[in-house]
Amino acid sequence: MSGTLTGTLTVVGLGPGGPHQMTPEARAALDSADELYGYGPYLARAPEREGQVRHASDNREELDRATLALERAVAGAKVAVVSGGDAGVFAMAAAVCEAVERGPEAFRALDIQVVPGVTAMLAVAARVGAPLGHDFCAISLSDNLKPWPLVEKRLKAAAEAGFVIALYNPISKARPWQLGAAFALLRDVLPGTVPVIFGRAAGRPDERITLATLAAADPAVADMATCVIIGSPETRLVERPGLPPLVYSPRSAR
Ligand SMILES: C[S@@+](CC[C@H](N)C(=O)[O-])C[C@H]1O[C@@H](n2cnc3c(N)ncnc32)[C@H](O)[C@@H]1O
Repeated sequence: MSGTLTGTLTVVGLGPGGPHQMTPEARAALDSADELYGYGPYLARAPEREGQVRHASDNREELDRATLALERAVAGAKVAVVSGGDAGVFAMAAAVCEAVERGPEAFRALDIQVVPGVTAMLAVAARVGAPLGHDFCAISLSDNLKPWPLVEKRLKAAAEAGFVIALYNPISKARPWQLGAAFALLRDVLPGTVPVIFGRAAGRPDERITLATLAAADPAVADMATCVIIGSPETRLVERPGLPPLVYSPRSAR
């Protein structure tokens, strides 16, 4: 995505949390930027560099943040916009593309790069084995940007099709009931024995991984920092003496 202006905009995925899970490419992109834009807690994860200007904004202001960053790049700045995890998964890369589509012609002439990162579901899956070892999908449970009936339709279709389902944005103070409703819907389609993984703050010091069955899964275990992975009927547990079980989805299906 190369343009004719001197400024640049790079959207950078920081990984799920710890600095050890940030890619060298992301680190280099952050280091070479003059200005960083992002949600405050994500910006705080970017290594400090002297002379670099940071613009923190609220989590709900993605489009405004993207537009501001694009305007600065058009003015000649080397700008990085940061996201947790991967920048293209429920994150800022799509907001930047949307701002380019809606914005002035100058935005389309910019050099725009997207640097990938380790997304939450991969960090959580890696902690327990290989639950994403066969076909899977990711669904955001937030109904801020789509109607709840559409979430229900997608959940049901994914479960009926045999996908493992990774749920992002499962619960928040403003959306307290959606995860319980999702479990109830999935219990109508899937066996109660299907494994459910609650992966909280994967890769951070306060990480917590909890295993349950779909029948017993308690929405209260999740918070905003949790990615919930719901197995398919093929997903299984391998019990081990003195160690947590391995959870995996076999590579083949019938
Ligand atoms: C707006 S989405 C951003 C996702 C991010 N772009 C990614 O690729 O992971 C925020 C959601 O990602 C999930 N999430 C982000 N970081 C996480 C982590 N370290 N552990 C578990 N889930 C995480 C949670 O479901 C959270 O509600």
